[in-house]
Amino acid sequence: MHLPPYTPFPVVATANVVLRQVEESDLADILDISFYDARPAGSIAEASTMLRQINDDYARGECLHWGLAHPQTNRIMGTVGFYRGFAEGTGELGCVLKSTFRGRGLMQQAMRLAIKFGLEEIKLQNVIALTDKQNYAAIRLLERLQFQPGQADESSEIRYSLR
Ligand SMILES: CC(C)(COP(=O)(O)OP(=O)(O)OC[C@H]1O[C@@H](n2cnc3c(N)ncnc32)[C@H](O)[C@@H]1OP(=O)(O)O)[C@@H](O)C(=O)NCCC(=O)NCCS
Repeated sequence: MHLPPYTPFPVVATANVVLRQVEESDLADILDISFYDARPAGSIAEASTMLRQINDDYARGECLHWGLAHPQTNRIMGTVGFYRGFAEGTGELGCVLKSTFRGRGLMQQAMRLAIKFGLEEIKLQNVIALTDKQNYAAIRLLERLQFQPGQADESSEIRYSLR
């Protein structure tokens, strides 16, 4: 496996989305979608603390967090990445789009880039994503990307995996 951090930070792109590192100057744009350990940021200062925690996790090889930038304006529309470590060659994808950019297929493109990077560069054996059973937008996204659902159980989440 080829775990983070990388020099330079990996930038990958399609014609419609650029995945790049999130900078302090992006925080105002993404305050509404800034989370760490499922906790939302309440202020720019808190989002900045969260970004430092994410960068520390990245430096320890435990996550890879991209901002999903607009190719012309460079402004961040969402985030995508691998979180919670890479134990046993498994990468867990997480993603969120600002609501105004949903329904255009942008996350599908971003996820494809992240999956390709995970399999080809990090050399992951498995890519997984956890989502709430009621999160139909996420379920549609994962199923379009050919993720397969695991066995349903009592929990409120479904574990999807790619291979
Ligand atoms: C999950 C989430 C990222 C999905 O966003 P999204 O914009 O629906 O995702 P996609 O990029 O797959 O876009 C697909 C939608 O765009 C539409 N679309 C429009 N133009 C399109 C195009 N050119 N190509 C593909 N899809 C297009 C599709 O029809 C589809 O709409 P539908 O689901 O109503 O049929 C978003 O709802 C979100 O941020 N949710 C909160 C965080 C979250 O739940 N994360 C999931 C964790 S696993």
